[in-house]
Amino acid sequence: MIMRKNLLTAVIGTALTFGLSFSAYASTTLKLSHNNPRDHAVHKAMDHMAKEVRKLTDGEVRIRIYPDAQLGNQRESMELMQNGALDMVKSNAAELESFASAYSAFNIPYLFRDKEHFYKVQESTIGEDILASSRESGFIGVTYYDAGARSFYTDKPINTPEDLKGIKVRVQPSASAIGMVNSLGGNPTPLAYGELYTALQQGVVDAAENNIPSFSLSRHSEVSKYFSLDEHTMVPDVLLISTKSYDALSEEHQKALKLAAMSSMELMKELWAESESKERAKAEKLGVKFISVNKTAFVEAVQPMYNDIKKKNPELNVIIEKIKLVQ
Ligand code: GCU
Repeated sequence: MIMRKNLLTAVIGTALTFGLSFSAYASTTLKLSHNNPRDHAVHKAMDHMAKEVRKLTDGEVRIRIYPDAQLGNQRESMELMQNGALDMVKSNAAELESFASAYSAFNIPYLFRDKEHFYKVQESTIGEDILASSRESGFIGVTYYDAGARSFYTDKPINTPEDLKGIKVRVQPSASAIGMVNSLGGNPTPLAYGELYTALQQGVVDAAENNIPSFSLSRHSEVSKYFSLDEHTMVPDVLLISTKSYDALSEEHQKALKLAAMSSMELMKELWAESESKERAKAEKLGVKFISVNKTAFVEAVQPMYNDIKKKNPELNVIIEKIKLVQ
């Protein structure tokens, strides 16, 4: 009897020790991949998020960030996330269009009236529904990050759509981006971001379009000397997590992740504004000319895209109409 009791105590003791040490040391590390450099505002915002998550979960959830497309370009990391080799990816609405069509709404030119309208849409149920819409593709969106407005850059000023005639313009793999460049008279050429510097340098493409920080930090400012501020789209960056990794988190940890992400999204608004002026000044020092553009002709040239959507894509049209109504 005594022996049995001792044995039982020993077994329970061991179980307790294991149990305790297990909960004290159990932590989940989520691997996050993205294709921007460390000095990009979005990397800094996500770094803040990783610290917040760790704090909010007492170190039980950690996020390890792999920048600079170390783990593959945007498309490759999306696929790695779908296969379970990566937990999280920072992508953007253009790349996401082929995984979840609702993201197209962010890629339609001249839909947002201004930055405030853009933020309000992201933070409304429309924005939340779009983040949730990719569940069937094996991941969901956690938050948006401001990525400014995108404009054309090449080796001459683009003042009107006429100036894009016959020009090869690199676009992201997004049907809307392709449609937009076609409507403006250019020749859209989809290409991975990492290949763009060489493509511009060697004349594989003549022009590209992006926001000012990405233009400068990816050193495209060395090879394209005119940045025309036509500001055709506001395409947000989007932080994603695989449904497998998300569903494996406790409810409490899921909440902590969302809170940390919201806090980093707010921080990003400030980081973005700072980064835009800093990177513009850097590019100007390299001899880049920033051209102010009268947008009227650009806005008119893309109107057929709206009529097309109305006729052929009623679901997207509903989202667009809802976005227009956001005040
Ligand atoms: C933005 C975004 C990148 C993306 C790039 C592109 O700069 O931050 O992640 O790859 O656009 O045009 O491909």
